[in-house]
Amino acid sequence: MRSWNGRDAQDGEHLNDESGMLYGEYLMLDKVIKAQRMVSQEHNQPVHDEHLFIITHQAYELWFKQIIFELDSIRELFSTELEESQTLEILKRLNRIVLILKVLVDQVMILETMTPLDFMEFRGYLRPASGFQSLQFRLIENKIGVQHEHRVKYNQNYSNVFGSDQEAMKLIEKSESEPSLSLIVQRWLERTPGLEAKGFDFWGKFQRSVEKLLDEQKQMALKETSDSARRFRLAEWENQTEVFESIFNPKVHDALVARGERRFTHRALQGAIMITFYRDEPRFSQPHQILTLLMDIDSLITKWRYNHVLMVQRMIGSSQLGTGGSSGYQYLRSTLSDRYKVFVDLFNLSTFLIPRSMIPPLTPIMKNHLCLNWETNTYINGDDKA
Ligand code: HEM
Repeated sequence: MRSWNGRDAQDGEHLNDESGMLYGEYLMLDKVIKAQRMVSQEHNQPVHDEHLFIITHQAYELWFKQIIFELDSIRELFSTELEESQTLEILKRLNRIVLILKVLVDQVMILETMTPLDFMEFRGYLRPASGFQSLQFRLIENKIGVQHEHRVKYNQNYSNVFGSDQEAMKLIEKSESEPSLSLIVQRWLERTPGLEAKGFDFWGKFQRSVEKLLDEQKQMALKETSDSARRFRLAEWENQTEVFESIFNPKVHDALVARGERRFTHRALQGAIMITFYRDEPRFSQPHQILTLLMDIDSLITKWRYNHVLMVQRMIGSSQLGTGGSSGYQYLRSTLSDRYKVFVDLFNLSTFLIPRSMIPPLTPIMKNHLCLNWETNTYINGDDKA
């Protein structure tokens, strides 16, 4: 039997005969450890830092692979009727993705120990290779739910890069056509218990609370004795009225979705708001954690983009083209916007919060339904006017 460094196992060496496999064999280290080809060396101009450059990219790709593995499994778990035990598993796996992304954000620093001059010494050999051609990065974006029309223009051509690679094209097309994490999460949010108009009717109750709040706000504004204070308060009230109109009027909501400023369906947004308000109720506590982790994923990918852009500027400045043919720094900077935040609506939920005292109180039936005591759970859909 051969060990990973190519030596034959000698008598007396500690081998795990029972499993019949050695560490290196199991991990196929002969492939992984030998997969660093320094192009500068092949050109008889070895550049020390190229080794780090390769290892860093490979480490990223390995972690990308793990993220995809987790994402696929999470989407599968979500697609079935969710049991409480599955929610825990989803939480565990989402949290794992978050932790991996944290490592990926920090990992940029290691590559930054390479100076621009070092990089310049081997950069020429790389052309036209570029992270732009990272298939796994695109798969992650698609599987999470980045939509084609939200990508910046140059980025909309990303699939051309894989044109000659049939297998890659198939994976890209599949990732674009199958339900993304965002879509699946929306379907799940749409089923939030308590949204039924004939049941607890959260949305109707919430709307009435907001109307009361806005009315109080207006009365307070009109009571202001100073002209400027009154004008200021009334402007504030008008702004608030418009903000809430954007969620209560489905047409305004749809217009925002069409403009790409909002992503979730109207019903999914309602579910997310409801979970946010009643997150202290036992059955909403895990869903609330899920929403928080989804935001973490968006935040961390944005942070990675930002760290990567800063590194790119440090390495090649802001006017050199990228090896992949983009405008380089300028292109990458344009990807930092909200366009790539799949769960941007969850970030914006704070806009629609109202004081605790005005949150519609739960009816006893609803309260009972959201507790974890299954024995006494008597919630009947459509019969909650208590
Ligand atoms: C010296 C270090 C690096 C430089 C100078 C650099 C430069 C660039 C440039 C200029 C682009 C824009 C596309 C183009 O090439 O025209 C790009 C895109 C990209 N790079 Fe890097 N990169 C570096 C390190 C890394 C690392 C370590 C990764 C990890 C996988 C990475 C992943 C990516 C990805 C995924 C994109 C596509 C981003 C998008 O289109 O949204 N890069 N890089």
